[in-house]
Amino acid sequence: MLSIKKIVSPMIKSVLIISATLLATSTFADNSQQSVQLAQLTDGFNAETTYMMSCFACHSTGAAGAPKVGPGNAEAWGPRMEKGMDAVIANAINGLNTMPPKGLCFTCTDADLAALVEYMVSSSN
Ligand code: HEC
Repeated sequence: MLSIKKIVSPMIKSVLIISATLLATSTFADNSQQSVQLAQLTDGFNAETTYMMSCFACHSTGAAGAPKVGPGNAEAWGPRMEKGMDAVIANAINGLNTMPPKGLCFTCTDADLAALVEYMVSSSN
């Protein structure tokens, strides 16, 4: 019995080591994928929540001439969209006249702002 244990237990050990290595490798792969995503959208980013926190104050009322967001405001966005989506997103990132850079969302990445602009435009149909 003892001798069998001596043979089997190193085998179990090496199986454990191999599976631990495989697990570690796949975990690493997952992590690196996640960090690529983090460089784009902020972790847990939600366009509606961020819009309500950072953009709603001006864009719901049209304060200072901000294009209004919400149903029935398509004509506020139509002429702006003629510049192309990329130019409109760039203006959101850099600011435009009284529109402050990043719409005052200083924790927002460029990808977050792009998602916010898409959210604003698509909810203004
Ligand atoms: C302090 C008020 C204010 C806040 C806060 C604000 N905006 Fe604006 N925004 C404006 C005004 C004013 C304009 C119109 C600027 C102009 O055309 O002269 C504007 C215009 C824009 C435009 C149109 C740009 C274009 O090319 O025509 C986008 C897109 C935009 N805002 C996105 C955002 C986003 C996204 C946020 C939140 C992260 C935000 N804004 C927060 C005031 C604001």
